[in-house]
Order: sequence, then C-alpha cells, then structure tokens
Amino acid sequence: MAKFDEEAEILEQQCVAAGTYRLRLASPRIVAHGRAGQFVLVRVAAGSDPLLRRPFSFHRLFPSEDAVEILYKVVGRGTLLLSRCRPGTRLSLLGPLGNGFTLLPDTNQALALAAGGIGIAPLLALVDQALAVGWRSERLHLFYGARNVQELLPPESLTGLGIQVHWSTDDGSYGYGGTVIDTVRLAFDQGFRPARLYGCGTLAMQYHLARLAADFGVDTELSLESLMACGLGACLGCALPARLSDDPDSDHYVHVCKDGPIFSPGSIRWQKIQFHPAQSPIFLSS
Ligand code: FES
Repeated sequence: MAKFDEEAEILEQQCVAAGTYRLRLASPRIVAHGRAGQFVLVRVAAGSDPLLRRPFSFHRLFPSEDAVEILYKVVGRGTLLLSRCRPGTRLSLLGPLGNGFTLLPDTNQALALAAGGIGIAPLLALVDQALAVGWRSERLHLFYGARNVQELLPPESLTGLGIQVHWSTDDGSYGYGGTVIDTVRLAFDQGFRPARLYGCGTLAMQYHLARLAADFGVDTELSLESLMACGLGACLGCALPARLSDDPDSDHYVHVCKDGPIFSPGSIRWQKIQFHPAQSPIFLSS
C-alpha cells in the first residue's frame, strides 16, 4: 500500500476541549490515499528531539482541500511540543499507515459508533466516509462520552453532520450520567441493532464494548491502542495477544501498527491483557 513522507504545513491549530487539540495540515498525497481508521506518524518538532514520530489517527480527511486533521490530547512531552506549534510550521508526516475501517455494502442499515474520550478521533472520519458512500445521516448513531463536559468536543461541532449523537459523561455534567458502554447497552436493551458497531477508546473500554457486542450478536470493528515506537512493524513494541481466525486455540501476537489498528474483537485474546490505570497494556504471563 502506498505511503508518503510529506513536509506538511500546519494550517490551523485549535484547542477544542480540555487539553485536546485539533490540528489541520496540508498534506495532499497522504489525504489522497488515506481512509478512516488509518493513521499517520508525525515528527512533532523540527530536528531529532524527540527522536520518534508519534502516531495519530485521521480525524477528518478533506481531499478536495488537500488537508488532513488529527485530534490529540496532551499526555506527554511529544504532544505538549505539538500543541505549541503554530500555523505555518512544517512537520514531517508519514502515512497513510494501517488497515482502516470497513463499511458494509448495504447502506440501508443503521451503524453504531462508540467513542470514549479522545477515541472520537477516528470515528468522525468514518462518519464522513459513510456519508460519502450513501449512508443516511439519521442512520448513523454516535455514542460519545467522556469523564466530564470539559473533555467533550463542543456539541455544536457535531450538529452539522446530522447524525444521532448519544452523549454521556461519567459525572453527569452533560448527557446521560454514565459511560459510553452504559448508553450502548441501553440502546441494545431497547432493541437497537446496528449492522455493525465501531469502537475506539481505551483498551479497557473496548474490552467491555467487545463483550457487550458479543452478548447481543453485533458485528464489530475496534480501533485498538497500544504503545507505539516505530509505527512500522519493526520494533514489536505494539504487540497484543491474539488468535488466528481459523484456529481459536492459537496463541500469537498481532502488531497494532502493522496488522491494525482495526481489529475484530474476536481476534484478540483479551484475557491475557491486564488493564493498567494509565491504559498501557500489560500482558499476563500465561
Ligand atoms: Fe514498532 Fe508496532 S510500533 S512494531
């Protein structure tokens, strides 16, 4: 699959929620080949410090404007440096990388998208892609939650899409008081059955989403996170325990950057992952 190394100019950088930034970059070759669920590696500062590029999924793709957007939260030195970059700065981008979401051919069905916090990032690109190939906006249900209202994207930034948004916050400061898993479960309990469920958030959230989807027999694709170093399948730093589709007892590892980041939940050996509070996966020894 074609990938490109581009010097991309920052067109816009905006703080859109607590510690969360939307970055728009001019990247004509990457946007022309990118699709929802894929990611780019970004060198967050000029020079070699920090040495490693950081991975960010596509948040929005605007091929007619030669622009891509990423959405990120400041969680460390790299993202802090990135948040200080101003329009006009040129950053090195490598992509598109990874496999991307898949859409079903029958567009007359409902789709569910479940986003926890910054997990909203790749799901808006998927909304755009679904709308572009004929899915009707009212059939797209976005279940979107965060810890509090300050961590949510502004509601008005989603209203223009015309999709059904089911808001939630853990502390009840906006929308339903509870988690995204709670709102998806409520909808399933009331008979809602999407043709496919897409999820993105912490690994712990996705584990619970996978179990819920399995309970209700809903086909699911998850965009999984893992610690990434090279982002290119070379360092083995992003491995997750998995099983082969034709051998449920098989025991091997997939690399989120190279084999994913989109996975069927049944391909992951969730019971071998211990969910660390900081969300980095830790593998159980057996
Ligand atoms: Fe190096 Fe995936 S980040 S193999």
